[in-house]
Amino acid sequence: MEQGKALYSAQCLTCHGDETGQNRQPDAPPHNGEGHTWHHPDRLLFQWVMDGPPLRTAMPTFRSKLSEREVVAVLAFIKTMWTDEIRKG
Ligand code: HEC
Repeated sequence: MEQGKALYSAQCLTCHGDETGQNRQPDAPPHNGEGHTWHHPDRLLFQWVMDGPPLRTAMPTFRSKLSEREVVAVLAFIKTMWTDEIRKG
C-alpha cells in the first residue's frame, strides 16, 4: 500500500490529481470516488495502465516502466481513495 502511494505520487499524480480530485490535467479523469474509474473491473484497469485505456489520447502506457506487482500496488492505492470518498458520503 505504501509502495502504491509512492508510485502513484511519482507516476500518476500530475495528471490524475490527489484524493480530492484537484490539480488534474483537463483530460485526465479523477481516480477518487467522483470519477468513473471505480465502475471498471480490476482486470481492465490493470490492462489499461499497462497498455493504455480505450480512446487513449494522453495517458501513457506503463508496461515498460512498472512491473505487474507495481501496477497492482498502484491500483490498490487508488482504491483507498474510493473508500475515503464513499465514507465522506
Ligand atoms: C500524462 C498524463 C497521465 C499520466 C502520467 C497518467 N495518466 Fe491515466 N489517463 C490520462 C488521460 C488523459 C486519460 C483519459 C484517456 C486518454 O485520453 O488517454 C487517462 C485514463 C486513465 C484510466 C482509465 C480511465 C478511468 O479512470 O476509468 C486509468 C485507470 C488510468 N488513467 C490510470 C493511471 C495510472 C494508474 C497512472 C500512473 C501509473 C496514470 N494513469 C498516469 C493521463 C495520464
